[in-house]
Amino acid sequence: MSYETILTETRGRVLLLTLNRPKALNAINRQLTAEVIDAVTKADADPEIGCIVITGSEKAFAAGADIKEMQAATYAEMYAGDRFADWERFTAVRTPIIAAVSGYALGGGCELAMMCDFILAADTAQFGQPEIKLGVMPGIGGSQRLTRFVGKSKAMEMCLTGRMMDAAEAERAGLVSRVVPAAELLGEAMRVAEIVAAMSLPIAMMTKEAVNRAYETTLTEGVRFERRVFHAMFATQDQKEGMAAFVEKRPAKFTHG
Ligand code: HXC
Repeated sequence: MSYETILTETRGRVLLLTLNRPKALNAINRQLTAEVIDAVTKADADPEIGCIVITGSEKAFAAGADIKEMQAATYAEMYAGDRFADWERFTAVRTPIIAAVSGYALGGGCELAMMCDFILAADTAQFGQPEIKLGVMPGIGGSQRLTRFVGKSKAMEMCLTGRMMDAAEAERAGLVSRVVPAAELLGEAMRVAEIVAAMSLPIAMMTKEAVNRAYETTLTEGVRFERRVFHAMFATQDQKEGMAAFVEKRPAKFTHG
């Protein structure tokens, strides 16, 4: 598949995916959806890729689902086409994904950032779920994920008023892991991605699965799941290598097995 709405570049073990519909502020249309999902699922199947970074432009990570594309859709079309269900293939990706957000992350853009494993934000980032102003509500998980990430009161206020949250507020609320100066965003995201990609890939995948389990189940079940997966890690070569390297006072060299 050749891409028209995204750019992809492999740097070492990191796939950098840049949303690239500048004239529409990276609005998420069907084509961009298909291309992002194609790129991340291929990267997920490639053992040479240990982390994915998704970014947009300086002005916009993504300004939402493409309003012009859905404006005239009927209920039957939205339902029969199960619009936005394809994003479940994105959340099924096991390779860690970092969102590097600069500028607007609105509607589907905020939802895409929240579907990544963590968000690094530029100090220019603006997050919001403004769908209510269009006569709809979030449709790619925003009403659920935002509520889990920032709590009911703030999520409810944002979804009901459509107001935007700046980077500092997003960090205080726990929506983003860290805020960095805009000029340093991509460099910092790639630096962090390289750290993740140098870890054992199967261990990183299991870790991602365990953290995500916290959103899906009870504490008792989650802790039980964690313990079982922790035990299973002792079947990997990378556990042997990681612990041997510590004892021998040398850097670990993971072979992803
Ligand atoms: C289609 C969009 C778009 C979008 C921007 N554009 N956002 N096109 N869908 N979501 C287009 C504009 O139409 C315009 O094209 C060009 O991008 C530049 O945008 P401007 O509005 O001129 O830029 P600016 O004045 O700087 O304002 C930036 C902005 C504003 C504040 C981000 O564009 C904005 O409010 N966008 C919509 C944000 C939004 O409501 N998102 C939620 C979408 S619904 P032209 O051709 O005019 O130059 C959604 C639902 C999720 O995400 C699923 C549930 C249904």
